[in-house]
Amino acid sequence: MRLIKQLLTHKGKIGAFDLVQTVSQGRTLFLGDGNLSFSRALAKLKPSAARDFTATTFEPAVRLSPRTLQNASQLARMSAKVLNGIDATRLQAHFGTTKFHAIIFNFPNVASRTPIYGHNPNHILAHKFLRSAAGQLVHGGLVVMTAVDSTFYAGAFGLPAAARFAGFGEPEIHEFKPSRFPGYIHANTLDGRSALTKYRSFGTWVFRLP
Ligand SMILES: C[S@@+](CC[C@H](N)C(=O)[O-])C[C@H]1O[C@@H](n2cnc3c(N)ncnc32)[C@H](O)[C@@H]1O
Repeated sequence: MRLIKQLLTHKGKIGAFDLVQTVSQGRTLFLGDGNLSFSRALAKLKPSAARDFTATTFEPAVRLSPRTLQNASQLARMSAKVLNGIDATRLQAHFGTTKFHAIIFNFPNVASRTPIYGHNPNHILAHKFLRSAAGQLVHGGLVVMTAVDSTFYAGAFGLPAAARFAGFGEPEIHEFKPSRFPGYIHANTLDGRSALTKYRSFGTWVFRLP
């Protein structure tokens, strides 16, 4: 209840989460990374960590834009692995027994509001993603998910319930400032208006297994 209130009122968020330090601590998996500019921004902020990055897009290679291909090449030059067509809800099928210290998904969105079994499809994505990610973490690992901090998104994703469903403890919510990641250009799921220009407040949710 406290968490729902925190998010709905935009109060109670703690300071920015230290993503640079987090990606320096072991293997990092980036999911649904759109144009790959977020993983590239972190690789530039911490070049020595890039060799432990697996940066992925949901879209298959044939659908990548020239900018995405350019970012993929830069990541590969920094020794990061880049994979396409990776579904965040089916991580075991993609990665088998490989485990990660951090699994990062920025602004998950399926670009549909058509209900699935009566639920917003982003609610289903959040539940399935968190359950899948829980099985791919090393001991002490964490899932980091950033979303728009608004009542609509809070209701759509239902993150406190998704965390419980997937076996995580109570998540922390940190403020997220896109400007801390130079070169990060948020990509919309469809070619519409970017959530980063439409909204001002974002939250980074950090999930840990008990
Ligand atoms: C709003 S965009 C954000 C893209 C990028 N993370 C960013 O912050 O710029 C949402 C992304 O989620 C991806 N996505 C949707 N369903 C997914 C799934 N099941 N697995 C992985 N990615 C998914 C979309 O392809 C899209 O790139």
